[in-house]
Amino acid sequence: MTFPLSQRARRVRLSPIAAAGQRAAALAGAGRDVLALTAGEPEFDTPEAIKQAAVAALARGETRYTPTAGTAALRRAIANRYAREPGLAVTPAEVFVSNGGKQVIYSAFAATLDAGDEVLLPAPYWPSFPDIVRINDGSPVIVPCDERSGFKLDAARLESAITPRTRWLVLNTPANPTGAVYGSEELAALAAVLRRHPQVLVLLDEIYEQIRFVAAGPHWLQVAPDLRERTLLVNGASKTYAMTGWRIGWGIAPAELVQAMTAIQSQVSSGASALGQAATAAALEATDQAFVVQAREAYARRAALTAQAINAIPGLRLLAPQGAFFAYVNCAGLIGKVRPDGRPLASDGDVVEWLLDSEGVAVVDGGAYGLSPYFRLSFAVADAVLEQALRRIARAVAALSSPANAADAAGTVDADALTAPLPQEAAA
Ligand SMILES: Cc1ncc(COP(=O)(O)O)c(C=O)c1O
Repeated sequence: MTFPLSQRARRVRLSPIAAAGQRAAALAGAGRDVLALTAGEPEFDTPEAIKQAAVAALARGETRYTPTAGTAALRRAIANRYAREPGLAVTPAEVFVSNGGKQVIYSAFAATLDAGDEVLLPAPYWPSFPDIVRINDGSPVIVPCDERSGFKLDAARLESAITPRTRWLVLNTPANPTGAVYGSEELAALAAVLRRHPQVLVLLDEIYEQIRFVAAGPHWLQVAPDLRERTLLVNGASKTYAMTGWRIGWGIAPAELVQAMTAIQSQVSSGASALGQAATAAALEATDQAFVVQAREAYARRAALTAQAINAIPGLRLLAPQGAFFAYVNCAGLIGKVRPDGRPLASDGDVVEWLLDSEGVAVVDGGAYGLSPYFRLSFAVADAVLEQALRRIARAVAALSSPANAADAAGTVDADALTAPLPQEAAA
């Protein structure tokens, strides 16, 4: 007998990113030499001062339930952070703290979606968005945004996607999986459309805001302050402070929405962990933000390295990421190529499988993000791992042949020349 799951449960999949990570871990567990570039997770450890703040909170006995929407100290620290940067007046009553940005998004959709309500998701998108919409009975409406538009939504596409059932537009900048960053003119153009459609709320996911390699323009709420009454900002500690396991995220929204999300959270988790909140408050209030700057520099360096190496591989192309820690690699040029075992690559899923089979490089196929043929590679890994992975990708591609002349095509790609700037892989 199959277990009697609800319709809701059957609408939802295990996160494809988690699934790809599990496959890589299983192979590694079986003794394969695997380089996993699947997770959206800083490889850095949480800075020591933040850990010590949690230890101090523990010593003070902060081991109990906290107020459901978050401790007064953390909500104040978040409001203060937004006052400093980007310079927005936020009151603690407009702040909602949860178990990661993911649960902020969940709570917001639970609080606002009725069956059939539409949520606009520019593609490529972070795969959790459509599934969290589905859990909450909503209908994800995918709006394709191709590479020519820098993977960004524009006014015309937004206008034509809006219907009377549209409840939310989701924007993610810097974006997962493309690293695209919206400029203020692009935001202004979207705001102009939204003003004509007062039923549409805006979820601006800015969880990668501190990981940006281009100058920060004005914030969405500075470009369109009049849309504040229908905007939810989503942010958190995971990416900025290398605190993924602490599970602290927050939303900034009109107090009415915060109250509704708080009521839901009171029945789901009672709130976020006391120690995580104490650590996050300390992270935000610290005068020393050197970790954030150093991490950003490391990601920027790796973004450039990745773009250089990928663009030197025939058949692959990468629009250089402007933020976050992902490369969304166009692999259209590999579709139709043939593996040495005679199997053709028919999709980005096949490309991903080939990279794993041949060289033990684990990445996630573009199908998971709503735009193919691409794969996402996370460069939130140590420099040496990234360099080795890029060399291996070049080698995996060099081993493919074209269908017409399968026998000698493999020799047409000079992998060494392509990856010349990278150090030699030790265990090649
Ligand atoms: C675009 C985006 N939003 C939100 C999150 C949620 O992160 P967390 O729940 O750790 O705060 C992630 C994590 O991968 C993400 O990529």
